[in-house]
Amino acid sequence: MRFYFISTLLRCEFLPGCGFIHRKSNYRSLKQSHPSADRNCIPISEQIILQVDLKSGDLQLLEISSGSGQHAAYLAPLCPNIKFYPSEFDRRLFPSIKAYADDCNTNNILEPLYVDISANPKEWTKQYGFKSGTFDYMLNFNMLHISPWSCAIGLFRSAGYLLKPSGKLFTYGPYKVNGILEPESNVNFDQSLKNRNIEWGIRDIEDLKKLAEENNIELVKSVDMPVNNKFLTWMKRRE
Ligand SMILES: C[S@@+](CC[C@H](N)C(=O)[O-])C[C@H]1O[C@@H](n2cnc3c(N)ncnc32)[C@H](O)[C@@H]1O
Repeated sequence: MRFYFISTLLRCEFLPGCGFIHRKSNYRSLKQSHPSADRNCIPISEQIILQVDLKSGDLQLLEISSGSGQHAAYLAPLCPNIKFYPSEFDRRLFPSIKAYADDCNTNNILEPLYVDISANPKEWTKQYGFKSGTFDYMLNFNMLHISPWSCAIGLFRSAGYLLKPSGKLFTYGPYKVNGILEPESNVNFDQSLKNRNIEWGIRDIEDLKKLAEENNIELVKSVDMPVNNKFLTWMKRRE
């Protein structure tokens, strides 16, 4: 019932194809619409809504590699009790993230932060005043396979440092399971990624679990999603 309600709410708030109803700003031209975010922001939001605390006040969420800013824009109005910190490595995406944030009626999306997730979190977090255990949630969608392995290392290191005990990191994308990549479309996608950049490629959940373990994090849930993707929930252990 809760799922149906949220689903309906999501679909009513936004125009089909992730075209947003522009309420306040004249930012239409700054808002980028990424085809992958267009396709998966609704199913991703549905999973997150089911797994976050929608009641407690003052919760904090850090999104790594926010891209166009569409995911935060979808989610933030549904979680008005959560403060969203979008971040990006590519500064050219900041105007788009900001434009979506400025149109968010619940005003809970902050200015985009520059974050190179492959860097040591103890260095970049200092400049934003983020102490160890600052965040209740972290998001990272569609990045692990389109970035070097150093980004996966940095993501789990950051989550280990920045999440509160029992805090959650949500990741989304295609994954190998125990060395097996299925179906053939994912095998072809993996090859096309490697052709673009030899350091890219679809990651194995087992390898990610090792990084998680090194950072006191465990995989607590895996949900099969449309088009052979998975939505993974990682949790920071209690000290
Ligand atoms: C396919 S896009 C996904 C964007 C968004 N999360 C989404 O799902 O629409 C991959 C993103 O990874 C980001 N990225 C690449 N290298 C990065 C790094 N070193 N640190 C943080 N983000 C990085 C890119 O800038 C890009 O926005």
